[in-house]
Amino acid sequence: MALSTEAFPITRVEASRRSSVDFDDLPFGSVWSDHMFVADYEDGAWRGAEIRPFGPVELYPSCKALQYAVSLFEGFKAHKTPSGECVVFRPDMNQKRLNRTADRLVMPEVPRDLFFAALDELIDLDRAWLPDADQGALYIRPSYFCTDPSLQVNPGSSYRLVIMSSPVGLYFAGEIGLVTTREFVRAFPGGTGDHKPSGNYGATLRASVVAQEQGYQNVIWLDGIEHRYIEECGVMNMFFVIDGTALTPPLGGTILPGVTRDSAIQLLADLDIPCEVRRISVEEVQAAASDGTLEEAFGCGTAATIAPIHRLGLEGQEVELEHRENSVADRLKSELHGIQTGTIEDRHGWLYRI
Ligand SMILES: Cc1ncc(COP(=O)(O)O)c(C=O)c1O
Repeated sequence: MALSTEAFPITRVEASRRSSVDFDDLPFGSVWSDHMFVADYEDGAWRGAEIRPFGPVELYPSCKALQYAVSLFEGFKAHKTPSGECVVFRPDMNQKRLNRTADRLVMPEVPRDLFFAALDELIDLDRAWLPDADQGALYIRPSYFCTDPSLQVNPGSSYRLVIMSSPVGLYFAGEIGLVTTREFVRAFPGGTGDHKPSGNYGATLRASVVAQEQGYQNVIWLDGIEHRYIEECGVMNMFFVIDGTALTPPLGGTILPGVTRDSAIQLLADLDIPCEVRRISVEEVQAAASDGTLEEAFGCGTAATIAPIHRLGLEGQEVELEHRENSVADRLKSELHGIQTGTIEDRHGWLYRI
């Protein structure tokens, strides 16, 4: 898709809201930076790309985004380095995953140039919203949806891309307890579990509420056929450490290819920690818990980075996991955070400077 490289028109806010926000107490995803990027795809071309104040967008209530969830999103973070630079963590991965999901929903590709030009301009304009590294990060949320107001269940002809950003605090989830579920299934072969359509998320809410009613924070998702193999937890990829080896399930079509998961596998190799990517059954984790070889469980994702899990409910077996000194989760978390914030060398070329 040919794209004009001219800067987008920018309509600035009259007065920034930045000074009214307490950057030492940032929630997740409910404070929004001053501006957003908006572009529309119509009649076979991208048009009207602009940056304007963050605010509501108008939609027909009949549009396919609302009627049929022809909608997707992405999420990634920018951090501030000690020298004050703004660095974004692996946005190329999110740009590619966005287009994989778009293809799954028969939505037009978002050109790489458009995505990165939008990112450059938007994040530069709202640079004042980038928290210091010890306060948190700037979470960047592209949202892409079908604006076509006709009710046929077929691919639409008009789409909108919005990119917004939100300063977020250092994520501390507190003690996390997770429980396996057989009642609910997140993904199954041929479905959309390895993509990131919005519809994947609304469909998990009942499962997490039921887990909370049972005294856990969220669920451990099992495979949708045998309900036997562990796939993900909540909205994170999942790792276990059994007898000194980190284990995580292979992607295989039903697991979201997480950027943090991919980075963690690489960092485990860098740190010389054995890692196996293979199927993990609930019975295997139960047996490891019983014989004392289950050392850790943790989730990983952009929001929480590496989130140690303290309690597991495994098909009725309760497992408490004590925090261990120098745990794999702690080592991974500090390595990842160090690279993301520019205090550890970016040896894999993961940082994109704005
Ligand atoms: C279902 C699911 N799994 C895993 C992840 C972690 O992916 P990432 O590390 O790219 O944030 C996410 C978050 O995007 C998710 O929604």
